[in-house]
Order: sequence, then C-alpha cells, then structure tokens
Amino acid sequence: MTTRTLTMLVAMGAAMSALASGGGDDDRDRRRDPVADRIYVEECGSCHVAYPPALLSRASWKAVVGRLATHFGVDASLEPAMGAEINAYLQARASLRDTVDGDGRTALRITETAWFRHEHRPGEHGLYRGVFEQASVGSPAKCDACHRGAAGGRYGEGEIRLP
Ligand code: HEC
Ligand code: HEC
Repeated sequence: MTTRTLTMLVAMGAAMSALASGGGDDDRDRRRDPVADRIYVEECGSCHVAYPPALLSRASWKAVVGRLATHFGVDASLEPAMGAEINAYLQARASLRDTVDGDGRTALRITETAWFRHEHRPGEHGLYRGVFEQASVGSPAKCDACHRGAAGGRYGEGEIRLP
C-alpha cells in the first residue's frame, strides 16, 4: 500500500467515525438553524433574544420550561397550551448532547455550559476579561449585545461587534 492510499484510508476512517459518533456534526448544523417558530419568538424573545434551541439539550429545556413561574428571578409563566407548543418546538430542535453546568448537573443556562464557556473564553476572538460585565452588555445571556443577528438566531462571525 502506498503512503498516499494509506493517508486516504485514514482520512476516510476519521470522516466515518465522525459520522458514527453522531451528535457533534449534527449539532453544529442545528446551531445554524434560524430561530423561526413565531410563538417561541414572541413568548420567549420579549425579555431576551429567543435563544437557539440547539444550544441546550432536551433535559435542559424541559427543566427550563418546567419552572417558568420562577424563571431566573421573574415570572415567565405561560398558558398551558402555549407552553406545550413551545416545549414541543424546543424538544424537536434541542441539542443531541447533554448540556451540563460546571458541576455536571443539567444546565438551566446556555451560558454555564462547557461549550459556551469554551467558545467565549477570555483572550480569544477579542474577548477580554470583564467583557460581559461592561455596562453595554451586563450579562453573558445578552447575546445581542455582541451578536447583531441574535434576534433572528444568527451568530456568524460576520455579525459580531464587541463593546
Ligand atoms: C418576563 C421576562 C422573561 C420571559 C418572558 C422569558 N425569560 Fe428567559 N430569562 C429572563 C431573565 C431575567 C433571565 C436571566 C438573564 C440574565 O442572567 O442576564 C432569563 C434567562 C433565560 C435562560 C438562560 C440564559 C443563559 O444562558 O444564561 C434561558 C435558557 C431562558 N431564559 C429561556 C426562556 C424561555 C424558553 C422562555 C419562554 C418560555 C423565556 N426564557 C421567557 C426573563 C424572561
Ligand atoms: C461579549 C460579547 C458576546 C456575548 C454577550 C455573546 N457572545 Fe457569542 N461570541 C462572541 C465572540 C467574540 C465569539 C467568537 C467568534 C469567533 O469565533 O471569531 C462568539 C461565538 C459564538 C458562537 C459561535 C459562532 C461561530 O460561527 O463560530 C455562537 C453560536 C455564539 N457565540 C452564541 C452566543 C449566544 C447564544 C450568546 C448568548 C447566550 C452569546 N453568544 C453571547 C461574543 C459574544
């Protein structure tokens, strides 16, 4: 076998195991889905942007939607029918991987997941220590302070402006 053939086989093997492992690539595609459900955007996008469903797992969304009356210090409860519809949308589009907080518990926040903390670590991509505490941001949950397309579910590099 030539080195070239071997390299090709190794590359094919890597591609196939990436497919077989599931989750990863699928999730990356899901993260690019626009946030399109009208009821979800209306009801869950009034206080903050309607977060992309693919950034939390099914278990995480279930936990968030299951306790809307005590939602991060506010009452965000919904009529049962509306809650059920939103829940169905989130469950269908959720991340296929577990999303957990730093202690390994089901995450209630995107911003406490390992993915978020890695993607937004200080020192990378112009992010500096204290950037989330800037007056014009206030919290990492204010995605649209930096991601200008966040209200429409767009987080591409071309639409980021740091404060
Ligand atoms: C009445 C206002 C209000 C409504 C309506 C609301 N939220 Fe929130 N939400 C909040 C506040 C306040 C926070 C905490 C924000 C912060 O930490 O800066 C929050 C945070 C979140 C977070 C965690 C963000 C993070 O990663 O840190 C999620 C997930 C979330 N909301 C989902 C929802 C969903 C789903 C709905 C609709 C069913 C909804 N919210 C409706 C006020 C609201
Ligand atoms: C202080 C500014 C800031 C805030 C607030 C912020 N981000 Fe980001 N985000 C960035 C930067 C900078 C990057 C890195 C972009 C790069 O890879 O060059 C990034 C990367 C991302 C990416 C990957 C984009 C890609 O195509 O690689 C996603 C998805 C994302 N953020 C989602 C969110 C979500 C969801 C929130 C809110 C819960 C949020 N961000 C809050 C600045 C921010």
